[in-house]
Amino acid sequence: MTKMENLKVLIPEEKLMARIKEVAEEINATYKEDEELTLICVLKGALMFYTELAKHLKMQVRMEFVSLSSYGDSEKSSGKVNALNLHLPNLEGKKVMVVEDIVDTGLTLDFLMNFLRTKCNAKEVRLCALLDKKCARKFPVHPDFCAFDIDDKFIVGFGLDYKELYRNISFIGYLE
Ligand code: IMP
Ligand code: MG
Repeated sequence: MTKMENLKVLIPEEKLMARIKEVAEEINATYKEDEELTLICVLKGALMFYTELAKHLKMQVRMEFVSLSSYGDSEKSSGKVNALNLHLPNLEGKKVMVVEDIVDTGLTLDFLMNFLRTKCNAKEVRLCALLDKKCARKFPVHPDFCAFDIDDKFIVGFGLDYKELYRNISFIGYLE
């Protein structure tokens, strides 16, 4: 059984929504309104952040989804990236932004950003992360946009899971 009593609030919903709107405004200031941007959601973790962010964007947005996993079923990174679904339209010459829930070791994003740059020939590939766990970084991944820097805690909620649970929670929490 899940022990809900061990769930603590790290970032409350109101603060989360306000900050996501600010990040969207930073992104809006970077692209022209008539410019096209392919926004790639890394499922499943980024789902909530992706939809909330996209609502505030003003350029011409195309929505695409990929499924990757590196964690498997535990709290520790497996050290491998599983590409569960990498079906994308032709991105040659396109401006692309990857939207991710959290950059931890950077393994997943290092793989995806390189894939988009070298295999898809995108014109520009940027990264927008909800959370950046800088202290855990092992691969050279640097978000262009980031909502919050966080310490080395195990985060759940607002898309992030522990053993596939807690994704639906409306705030950012951590498990004790
Ligand atoms: P990385 O490849 O090590 O950077 O790990 C990135 C992926 O691991 C993220 O997309 C998350 O799905 C997962 N992950 C990393 N840290 C956490 C966490 O604190 N809580 C839940 N999932 C996490
Ligand atoms: Mg993820």
